[in-house]
Amino acid sequence: MANSPSSDSMIDRIVRVLETFTADRSVQSASQIGRRAALPSSTAHRIVDELVDAGLLGRDEDRRVHLGMRLWELALRGSTALRLRQAALPYMERVQTHIRQHTQLAVLEQDEALFLERLSHPDAGANITRIAGRLPLHASSSGLVLLAHAPADLRERVLAQPLRALAPETVTDPGRLRRLLAGVRRDGVAIAQGSIESVSTGVAVPIRDAGEVVAALSVVLPRQAPHTAAIIALREAVTGIEATLRSPR
Ligand code: PHB
Repeated sequence: MANSPSSDSMIDRIVRVLETFTADRSVQSASQIGRRAALPSSTAHRIVDELVDAGLLGRDEDRRVHLGMRLWELALRGSTALRLRQAALPYMERVQTHIRQHTQLAVLEQDEALFLERLSHPDAGANITRIAGRLPLHASSSGLVLLAHAPADLRERVLAQPLRALAPETVTDPGRLRRLLAGVRRDGVAIAQGSIESVSTGVAVPIRDAGEVVAALSVVLPRQAPHTAAIIALREAVTGIEATLRSPR
């Protein structure tokens, strides 16, 4: 599909344009997009115009560009993520009511934990997770669950890479991480104290569909909070979510 003098395809360029949008950078000019996507200005303007015409990008009265609702609509329609989120939400709300902290749903995506949903309580403690945001597999409790149950080749790939410390307690030694993951598989829960931020502890359990781990359900607690009630609430929620996933659509 290389239809430009350079070797990147039109699809590559469109993806680079879309990837310039982040949670903190939701509105940009076409020139800024071009610079950030490393595209010639004329190419960036043309791609932006075409994506705006297709509704995948939108433009405000100052000609600043944002992601289009149609992109959201197409991305969610019929997606596995939507099915999981719909199955999980009623049970996440129960966990939320009971534990009154943060409750999250994450899936494995390109060697990271991608968060599909997050519910929070007004008085809940710190939490850096965002919906549609990502966290490293080796650092977050959800990531540890997903990594523990990931295909062996993916796990080895992650263990072979330099493991970045997000906080002083993040496990970055591959041998220690390997033992930690074996413990997660054995115990059916990951408890990550201070691994993302010193002030909090993530607690996560696996969600299975047709025998395979497809997601992680987690709570983020203040560091010193007891874990037992959270683990019980998460496991009860997973029983309900898995039953919903088993039932005919
Ligand atoms: C975790 O899942 O371990 C986690 C996530 C976000 C935080 C803290 C912990 O802010």
